Formats: sequence, structure tokens, C-alpha cells
Amino acid sequence: MSTTILVGLQWGDEGKGKIIDVLTKDVGMVVRFQGGNNAGHTVEIGNDKYVLHLIPSGIFRKKTKNIIGNGVVVNPVILKEEMEALSQSGVSFKNRFEISTRSHLIFQYHCLIDGLKEQQRNPEKKIGTTKRGIGPTYGDKAARRGIRALEMLDIKRFESRFREEAEYYNTILEGFDFEKVDVETEWRKLKEAAEFLAPYIKDTVLTVNKAASSGKKILFEGAQGMLLDVDYGTYPYVTSSNTTTGAACTGSGLSPKYITEIYGVMKAYCTRVGEGPFPTELFNEEGETIRKIGSEFGATTGRPRRCGWFDAVSAKYSCMVNGTDKLAITKLDVLDKLKTLKVCTAYEIDGIQYKAMPSDTELMEKAKPIYEEMAGWQSDTSKAKSFDELPLQAQNYLKWIAELVNADIGIISVGPKRSQTFTVFP
Ligand code: IMP
Repeated sequence: MSTTILVGLQWGDEGKGKIIDVLTKDVGMVVRFQGGNNAGHTVEIGNDKYVLHLIPSGIFRKKTKNIIGNGVVVNPVILKEEMEALSQSGVSFKNRFEISTRSHLIFQYHCLIDGLKEQQRNPEKKIGTTKRGIGPTYGDKAARRGIRALEMLDIKRFESRFREEAEYYNTILEGFDFEKVDVETEWRKLKEAAEFLAPYIKDTVLTVNKAASSGKKILFEGAQGMLLDVDYGTYPYVTSSNTTTGAACTGSGLSPKYITEIYGVMKAYCTRVGEGPFPTELFNEEGETIRKIGSEFGATTGRPRRCGWFDAVSAKYSCMVNGTDKLAITKLDVLDKLKTLKVCTAYEIDGIQYKAMPSDTELMEKAKPIYEEMAGWQSDTSKAKSFDELPLQAQNYLKWIAELVNADIGIISVGPKRSQTFTVFP
């Protein structure tokens, strides 16, 4: 039996989709447990490139079952579109895809409220959300007025709940003179989506527990990253779910007693989309080089990502909270051309040195990185097939950052293709 949780250790976009795709080779089930279509997992297979927003990355392995757990927020219209697009590429969903009856649904009014809340914020305090309605939907869940996937199984009940909520939100939107929901147009799309999705809506708590107790290999696929976690991230510049390993259990209904292994994914440097503190952000030529070589543009929104040096302070904190057993370090090749590499090993805030990430985001905003540096390897790593084939200086860099965050290296990725990944066993 093996149950693995894989999460992002930074601000998302660490390359989780790719690592999951590699790990799913011999996995029976992949489970998404939090977030929604704010995520964008890119998987390249041969010459084809796919961006998944809601569907677990195991969908490309024919024998793998894929589950959207109860902790995920699901936009039914978007999910239908994503499934249709994948079906056209030859992906089959029959008997290998389930959506939890308990997943909360995202509607257009949530997306509009997301936009309205951003507009209402002080320009200096904007979060820079993906405007996918994530926060307002989790808000409704906590406020106990959300609509769950199971309600799509009874069209009449679904319609009356949707209309009731849409009217409520339209009153609010109107009060702010903001765009309103066109209830009839939206309902038409939702009815079609509900009919399309109905065969896949199941009590996935039973499915996941049955798989675990029968010894099936399960992989939990985290979205976003630890520094966007609503509790442990740079609050309020975070997403609205728990992105850390604990959420794999609450977001799927599987007991923690089944978890055997934890993978944390991090880039060999740092990126962030949206607003919020980022102590090692680069505003110079080096940042621009990383963005260009690393194609650092959001998979969901296309926004240019902010780029910077590896931050060992936040990554170490992240490894601790997640209980990371093994690291998957991605995008090493992006650093190939750089002469010097810097790593942040402490923050200086108001004249005081911090070795751990402060919980107060206002302090984090003032953090000045204290760097240690080493010479770059300045040679191509993208063709390496094992740790030993990497230039010595690249090996040293990897060992150094792994030691700083207190975890072992498990996987290295040196390019976007499936083939540009290898495992490392310490
Ligand atoms: P929301 O999740 O759309 O509410 O956005 C909240 C913050 O999380 C914003 O800064 C987003 O840019 C960021 N965010 C959400 N999803 C992702 C992701 O998948 N990758 C990177 N950043 C994300």
C-alpha cells in the first residue's frame, strides 16, 4: 500500500502537474482535494501540451482513476468544457472519473463578486485573484449557503437553489452598480452542465476509502502552494483553501492513517503571480532572464509571473508544515546560463534577523533577503538523465538547497518533457 500526497512548497506553479504525471505511471488513483479552476497544471506529452484546471493530472494514464474530492470547488460549466476538450483529444472518462457529491459549486455570481471585492479594495491591498470565484465560493461553504454537486442530480431542486442564490447576489451586485448575472442565460448553461456531469457525481469518500483499504496506490494532487495556504501563507495574499498536506484528508474523506509518503515540489528559484510579499523578487535583468527562459507566464490567466532567487527561509517553513519526505526540484535548467546564483538564507526585518518566516505579513513585506551565493554551472543540464550526469556545480546547488530546507531530493526536472525528469535516491 502506498498513499502519496504531493504539494507545492512555494507560491504555486512549481511544476506539480508534470511531477504528478511522472509519478502516476504506476498509481491506481489520483485525487484533487482543494482549490478549483484557479489552478493550471501543464503536462507535455510528446509534442502535445495540455493545461488542466480542474481534472486531476492522472487523466492521461489510461488505467488511473481520477477523483475530484469534496474539498475542491467546481465550476460545472468550466468542468464540462474541460472534459469535452480532453475527450476530443481521445481521453476517456468512462468509469475512471468521479466528482464528489459534496464538492461546492462555483457560479457566475461568485466570479462577479470576486471581481467586485477586488475592485472595492484599496489599490495597495488588492490580492490579484484569478477572478475564478474561488474565495466567494469557499465563503459560501463556510457561511452554509453553498450549493453542492449532489444538487445537480435533481434538476428542479438545482434550478430553484441557483435562482434563489443568483437573485440574492444580483441584489448585492446591483447595489454596487456592478455587472449582474443574466439568470436565464446562466441557467441554460448550468442545466446542460448538470446533465452532462450527472453520471460522474458520486460519494467519492466511499471510492477513495475503498481504494485505500484494498491497497491501491493513491496520489493526492495539491494545487497552488504552501505560501498561498489560507492559514500558513502570506495572508491575506493567499488563496481561500488549505493547500498543505493536512487538507488531503479533509478534502477527500480519507483518514491520515493511510498516508505513507509526502512529496514537496519546488522550483530551483521562486515565482509568484498576484500581489503580496516576495522577499527575493528580482526587478533587474536576471529576473527578466528567468522569466524568459522559464516561460514564466500564468497557465490560467497568462499574467507574467514575478521571478526571484530561491528563498530557503519560506521553503524550510513549508517543508516543516507539510512534513516533506522528498523534494521534487523543477526547472533547474532555467538557471543554466546564470553566472552567479543567490539563495536567501535569512530575512532582515527592522534590523532583526529572522531564520523562520514571520506570521505577520506586514513584517514579511519589510523583509530584506540575506543572501549566500555560489558560482553558476553555466552549461546545459536539460539533457541529463541522472543526478551524476549533472555538472558538479549543479549537483552542489541542489544538495545545498535540499540541506537548507531539511528534506531529501527525490526527483529532479530539467525541462518540460516527460523524459526530462529523473529520480534521485539519497
Ligand atoms: P484566487 O485563488 O483566485 O482567489 O487568487 C488568490 C491568489 O492566489 C492570487 O495571488 C492568485 O494569483 C494566486 N493563485 C491562485 N491559484 C494559483 C495557481 O494555481 N498558481 C499560482 N498562483 C495562484
